[in-house]
Amino acid sequence: MSTLARIDELLRQASADLGSVKNSADLEAFRAKYLGPKGALKDLMTALKDVPAEIKPAFGKAANELRQKLQTGFDELKANLGSASGGGPSAAPKGPALDLTEPGLPPRLGRQHVLTQTIDDLVDVFGRMGFDVATGPEVEDESHNFVALNIPEAHPARDPLDNFYIDTTPGSAHLLRSQTSTIQIRVMEKAKPPVRVVAMGRVYRPDEHDATHYSMFHQVEGLYVDRGVSMSDLKTTLIQFIHAYFGPDCKIRLRPSFFPFTEPSAEMDVWMQIRGVWKWVEIGGCGMVDPNVFKAVGYDPEIWTGFAFGLGIERLAMRKYGITDIRWLFENDVRFLRQF
Ligand code: DAH
Repeated sequence: MSTLARIDELLRQASADLGSVKNSADLEAFRAKYLGPKGALKDLMTALKDVPAEIKPAFGKAANELRQKLQTGFDELKANLGSASGGGPSAAPKGPALDLTEPGLPPRLGRQHVLTQTIDDLVDVFGRMGFDVATGPEVEDESHNFVALNIPEAHPARDPLDNFYIDTTPGSAHLLRSQTSTIQIRVMEKAKPPVRVVAMGRVYRPDEHDATHYSMFHQVEGLYVDRGVSMSDLKTTLIQFIHAYFGPDCKIRLRPSFFPFTEPSAEMDVWMQIRGVWKWVEIGGCGMVDPNVFKAVGYDPEIWTGFAFGLGIERLAMRKYGITDIRWLFENDVRFLRQF
């Protein structure tokens, strides 16, 4: 093939290739084949130096024209592919394939459940008041849940209908603990007085669910044992806790009550809103540790005195965050939970 005929042949081939470009990938293949650094035009220019001198000018001119034609054809197609809607049935979508300026999807961060946050805050507040943290098992024996707490066999609190028993075999009965007061016993069995602990955890009772009751909830239990502890220490501690946690405006009251493991005993109410209505809501019980409890753990009640309290953590959280129905805490609706 003569050298000039070679150029014609290239133009014919390239025009055919250009005609069959359907998408940007085809176009890029075309560019690489003809216009790229390893393309046919580059070869043609390299061949120029070996062309006989008499046809060199004509060859150079023809080669340049060819390059211009191919470049123009390429540019036009590129513009068409970029702007035509789709550019053909199998063409690439309009616009750049990857928009680097588009904002990414923000990662969804989880968070602690409001009750976990509340427990952490309680550990913190009581920690500043000098209380250590203790724990105990959720499946308890009758001895820790009742006997050592001065709750006799016939006491209504031990009724199987009021508890979640796991095993009712006499002598080795077990249940889901109904109160965290069990941990008072576990602590005193191990530690010598003085003792100053709080314990938080789940407790279980077959209560009907309503705005303030649930069959599983959390309590914070407190126990302080030392020489000469009095009821005024108890009241001062509770008031200081309430003011530290809720602020100085939170109203509370203590009502005389009865618990087998304290004497005297009281119930603590907090002034709070339930479903739009402000009222006194019982937050927990408290009292001076009954001498029988000290005897059960081997503490001499002639020497040691103490107070104890057990407060419902859900109700504390409800007062703190204005949650007016306990059931929302356990529905696990993230739209509710992510507010806290
Ligand atoms: N355990 C009691 C309950 O769950 C609450 C309670 C009352 C705890 C008096 C105490 C206390 O430590 O001294 O109803």
